[in-house]
Amino acid sequence: MNLREAVRAYYQAHRQEGVHPKLGPYRYTAPSERHPYQWLWDSGFHAVVLAHWDADAALVELETLFRVQGDDGFVPHMVYWPMPPVVRRVPEAERILGGDPNRLVPITWHSPVPPYAAFEADPRRSDAHSALVQPPIFGTVLLRLWELLGPSERLRALWPRALALYRWIRQHRDPDGDGLVSILQSRESGLDYSPMYDPVWQHAARRTGFLADAAPTPDTLARISDRVFVEHNADRWNLPAIFRRRVFDVEDLTVNVLMARGLWDLARVGERLGFQEAREARRWARAQEQAVLQRLWHEADQAFYSLHHPDDGEVPLRCLTVASLLPLGLPHLRDSQERALLRALRDPARFALPYPVPSVAADEPAFDPEVQPPRLIWRGPTWINMNWFLARFLAERGVRDDARRLARASLDLVQKSGFREYFHPLTGAGGGAFQFGWTGLVLDLQDLAAES
Ligand code: GLC
Repeated sequence: MNLREAVRAYYQAHRQEGVHPKLGPYRYTAPSERHPYQWLWDSGFHAVVLAHWDADAALVELETLFRVQGDDGFVPHMVYWPMPPVVRRVPEAERILGGDPNRLVPITWHSPVPPYAAFEADPRRSDAHSALVQPPIFGTVLLRLWELLGPSERLRALWPRALALYRWIRQHRDPDGDGLVSILQSRESGLDYSPMYDPVWQHAARRTGFLADAAPTPDTLARISDRVFVEHNADRWNLPAIFRRRVFDVEDLTVNVLMARGLWDLARVGERLGFQEAREARRWARAQEQAVLQRLWHEADQAFYSLHHPDDGEVPLRCLTVASLLPLGLPHLRDSQERALLRALRDPARFALPYPVPSVAADEPAFDPEVQPPRLIWRGPTWINMNWFLARFLAERGVRDDARRLARASLDLVQKSGFREYFHPLTGAGGGAFQFGWTGLVLDLQDLAAES
């Protein structure tokens, strides 16, 4: 089976479809059997993958997500579409420890509303989705859809929706007005348990009166996170109140860089479609990019970091992660900054491991490349969505050797271990889900990998 057919087969198996009593019809691709809901940035990636064989499905994926957009522009990081139980075939290994990853077995796939849903929902909105955000990548996704599918009325209809989301984030997520977006829980970055947040969790533990040592184990982090949500609920999801308390307030690299990049790409699509508001998107892109380049850059370390706001001050979270490389996607990155990022990317002691790019630099004390459970995610293994961004950013900068190497490494990983959720950066072994949605982005890296 060729790569496209392989991705298509599991995308078909992950198709979730139905009619929500209040929200109407939905159709989207679940990331995996372990992740039956719709996630914001996953859906953006899925749309790009789907565009390789089914234009309609690519657009429906986004239309479904935007169906829950608030009148104010907000789009949640998760929607709990209530799928009735259906029988699906999934890799046996997905269900049984040590099971055969190549043998498909029937299971009843069900997506009941998860128990934590109420915790993460703003009761003034809806209990059908969370009140969190995720990296707003829609500008970038729409540009890629434009490239793959060309213009259409449906793409045109999505453009103002995406703009409204960026507007909402600007208006509601910059509590100190410095041009950078704040997140109120690490899952909003998509890099859930990245060690860059360890000091933030320690601070949150102290703030919420958590007595045990806040060492990063799955159990302690889950409990601290619950306490953070208790506080957010006590504030009734009133964002200014939540940020005034500073239990969890991080100006996050992934969110801010992908927001800036998303706005640049949104402006490009908007200009081609003849939208007046494209000018606004361009203005926001410039401001957002400048805020990242100036405020998230750490001159002494020659690195980009997220900023933590524990109280009045702000503290750089000095842990080098794959997020620190994302500014390669910013058009006005300074030459000296580009050189520093390329040095880190090519350094065998940091990111240039046999199966790049590790989610944490190998010389960080917290680097943990293992993929066996029970591991906290984003603490070392390689993820294909990050490789997709980085390979494309490098290619567009003209650093084509590195871009090609990264695209090839991503395809090698899938050849070796299948469409796993993440991979051991030293051995290439897979971890997490067996057929993971955004790992299908390797399809979109094939041309780059094939360049001579
Ligand atoms: C994990 C990932 C997050 C992703 C979600 C659904 O929580 O860390 O980035 O969106 O799974 O796949």
